[in-house]
Amino acid sequence: MSSSERESAGISSRSRFEHTAEDSGNPKRNADLSVENQNWIRWFRQTSPYINANRGKRLVIALSGDALDHENLIDIVHDVAMLNSLGVKIVLVFGARPQINRALHQAGIDDQVCGKLRVTSARAMPHVLQAAGGLRCQLEALLSAGMANSPMHGASIKVISGNFVMSRPVGVLDGVDYGFTGRVRKVDAHAIQQFLDQQAIVLLPSIGYSLTGEAFNLSYEDVAASVASAIGAHKLIMFSEQGGILDGNGDLIRELSLARAQRLLAQVEGVSPQDALDPECRDLLAFICTACHQGVDRSYVLSFQHEGALLQEMFTRDGLGTMISAQDYEQIRPAKLTDIGGISELLRPLEEQGILIRRSRELLEMEIDKFTVDERDGGIIGCAALYPYPSERIGELACFAVSSRYRRHGRGDTLLQIIEDKARRLKLNRIFALTTQTEHWFRERGFVPASINELPESKRAAYNNQRNSKLFIKML
Ligand SMILES: CC(C)(COP(=O)(O)OP(=O)(O)OC[C@H]1O[C@@H](n2cnc3c(N)ncnc32)[C@H](O)[C@@H]1OP(=O)(O)O)[C@@H](O)C(=O)NCCC(=O)NCCS
Repeated sequence: MSSSERESAGISSRSRFEHTAEDSGNPKRNADLSVENQNWIRWFRQTSPYINANRGKRLVIALSGDALDHENLIDIVHDVAMLNSLGVKIVLVFGARPQINRALHQAGIDDQVCGKLRVTSARAMPHVLQAAGGLRCQLEALLSAGMANSPMHGASIKVISGNFVMSRPVGVLDGVDYGFTGRVRKVDAHAIQQFLDQQAIVLLPSIGYSLTGEAFNLSYEDVAASVASAIGAHKLIMFSEQGGILDGNGDLIRELSLARAQRLLAQVEGVSPQDALDPECRDLLAFICTACHQGVDRSYVLSFQHEGALLQEMFTRDGLGTMISAQDYEQIRPAKLTDIGGISELLRPLEEQGILIRRSRELLEMEIDKFTVDERDGGIIGCAALYPYPSERIGELACFAVSSRYRRHGRGDTLLQIIEDKARRLKLNRIFALTTQTEHWFRERGFVPASINELPESKRAAYNNQRNSKLFIKML
């Protein structure tokens, strides 16, 4: 980027990676900068698969009222703006509980909460609307920022808000009239989608409108989950105070399948704390489960206090908080001895076609710790093995297969990534594959052809010339 381009983009004329006459007199600093530079380039390149994977995806982000009060809000807004520039379609839902509490307190109105639901009286409702309206303006202002030298420079985001959420009153429950407290009745997904297609961010307060022409006070969790279901969001991200779903001991649950989430919600008494659910998380999880049932694949509960949580969730595989996955019947995990039957069944047809080398059951038993399997509904539908040669810092990817019924859905890619991570943990810096019919699959994933002489010594000795497999190596 030239200096004039940089200036017009609002980037400081001396970036972190530029050398000046002053720097060039300092060889140590030059060396440091070049390492930093290289790391940055590597990091930036590694983000492209995530950028590609997220482009055009529909994302619902829900911010609790506490998140809006928190100092991290500005960073979250910057991250939302960045996702928008990268082509992610975003609906931003926000709550206003603490702000409403303060407004009611100042107005001297009793804040009536029954169970977990606020009773919204006719006297309280104007304050609810004022709080939600004020927050909406605050978020619109933040999303409109564009100062030079700020992450928002050049973002030029369009923000749309409107009557997209129809509601109905909660009514009278156990003799208590909840007044203007409502529930989501319907979401105008078509209208939201139209604005998302124009790359606008759709901003929704936890306020809904009824056919009688009234406004209702909704829970932001209800709005977020209902909107996510209605627009078929790929991901629903809830920023909450707990920073995740906690078990009965208060420990963070990192991953939950829909089935387990429902089991946790169904449990009442007599279970151990780690098999129970923190009561504060119950409602949140119930809304998320509804969204999962209605087609949202993945939901996340993240802490708004954790700097960069949103980016980490979207651009790395090491997310934070809790992930709730609708596809609970599939998991990729290290193999166990009981998987041998399933692995043999998967590999046998490929061995018969000469695509894979035959391995006896005994050998599989001995080498089971090398295997990773993809289990779906109790059956093995994919597997891969890593045979390390630690002294040469290289590993072999072998027995790599996905059942023909389940191919072309990225399972091969996922297995490969897991094998690469395993190899990195073992401090290997290359992996190789020997193949007769899958050359292009490997080449498209960064493997390069190599001479058989580059095989580890013991493997070279065992190389079967008749089979004439080709060798491909990938640097990690
Ligand atoms: C290779 C294999 C594991 C990939 O599994 P997968 O879950 O389908 O992989 P992905 O979904 O990540 O990738 C699918 C892509 O790979 C392509 N692909 C599949 N087999 C291929 C091959 N032999 N050569 C080139 N590309 C191939 C598919 O066409 C698809 O691309 P497209 O959707 O763009 O057309 C699977 O095809 C398989 O089990 N093949 C037989 C066993 C094998 O060859 N193993 C490797 C021996 S070393």
